[in-house]
Amino acid sequence: MSIVPVTPQNIARAAALLREGQLVAFPTETVYGLGADATNGIAVARIFEAKGRPRFNPLIAHVAGVAQAEEIGRLGAVSRRLAHAFWPGPLTLVVERQRECPVSELATAGLDTIAIRVPSHPVANMLLAAAGCPVAAPSANRSGHVSATEASHVEADLGDAVALVLDGGPTEHGVESTVLDVSGERPTILRPGAITREALAEVLGDLPGSAAPVAARPLSPGQLESHYAPVARVRLGATDVRPGEALLAFGPVPFAHEGPVINLSEGGDLRIAAACLFSALRELDRSGAETIAVMPIPDEGLGEAINDRLARSAAPR
Ligand code: TXA
Ligand code: MG
Repeated sequence: MSIVPVTPQNIARAAALLREGQLVAFPTETVYGLGADATNGIAVARIFEAKGRPRFNPLIAHVAGVAQAEEIGRLGAVSRRLAHAFWPGPLTLVVERQRECPVSELATAGLDTIAIRVPSHPVANMLLAAAGCPVAAPSANRSGHVSATEASHVEADLGDAVALVLDGGPTEHGVESTVLDVSGERPTILRPGAITREALAEVLGDLPGSAAPVAARPLSPGQLESHYAPVARVRLGATDVRPGEALLAFGPVPFAHEGPVINLSEGGDLRIAAACLFSALRELDRSGAETIAVMPIPDEGLGEAINDRLARSAAPR
C-alpha cells in the first residue's frame, strides 16, 4: 500500500483504482473509510476479506450528492428533507433499494434496503465525484479494532490489502455517522453518531425512535426477517444431490447431478463466491426446488463469512 498526500493527480489515481476494483482508503469527516466500487461484487468481497470480518454486514454506499443517491435508493419526502438539512454530512439514511439498483447485493447483505450517505469531507467528495460510482465503505480498521482516524492507523491495521490511502490528516469527528432508518413508518436511529437525536428531531418535528443495528442483533433466524432468507430448505455440506434438490456448488463438482445448479466459483475462488452468494440463493429459490443442497466451502478467509450466512439460511425456522 502507499499513503499519498491529497493532490489532483492522487485523487484521479485513487478513482481509477476504485473503478478497477481495488480498495482505496480515504478520509471522511467522521473516520477513514475503506472504499470499493459498490457495484462491483468482487471489489466489495475484498473489503470483507481485508477487514477479517467473520460476517457479511451491510455497508454504507457513499455518493457525491442527492441525485446519485436517488439512483440507488428510494428517497421519500422525509428522507429528502433530512438530506437537504444534513447532506453533505455525517448522516446515513437507510431507505428502500431503488428498482434496478446497481449496487452489489453483497454490499447490502441481501437486504431490500440500502444505507446511503453524502460525506462532507472535501477529499471524500472529490474522490466520489471522480470515481463516478457509489463507493461502499466501512471504517478502515480490522474487524473488532477501533475506527481509523488517521492514515497511519489504516496502514497499521490493513497493510497491503489496500492499494492506496489518501492522507487527509486526522478526521474531524472521530465518531461514525448517525444511521437513521427511514424505510419504515417511524424514523429510527440504528446507530447513534455525529448527528444528534435532537438535531434530527428539529427537522423531523418529532424524536426519532431507537433500535439495535442489524449487525448487533442476535443471530437467531427469527430476527432475520429483513435479511433475504430462502424459502427453500438449505442442506449444508452436501456430497450428493437428492431428487428435487437444487445445487449450490463450489469448485469442481465430483458427483453426477440433475436439476437447477449454480456454481459460486468453479475455480474455488472465495471472492467470486462471496460476490454472487446472495443472488445465487435468490435464483435457486426461484427455481422452486424444495431444498438447496450446498457443497462444502472451506472455512478460511472469506469462507467463514460465507459459511456464517449459509448456516443462518439452514437454521430451523
Ligand atoms: O461514519 C461512517 O458512517 C463511516 C464512514 C467511513 O462513512 N462508515 C461506517 O461504516 O461506519 P460501517 O460499515 O462501520 O457501519 C455501517 C453501519 C452498520 O451499523 C450497519 O449495520 C449499518 O450501517 N447499515 C448499513 N446498511 C444497512 C441497512 N441496509 N439496514 C440497516 N443498517 C445498515
Ligand atoms: Mg465500523
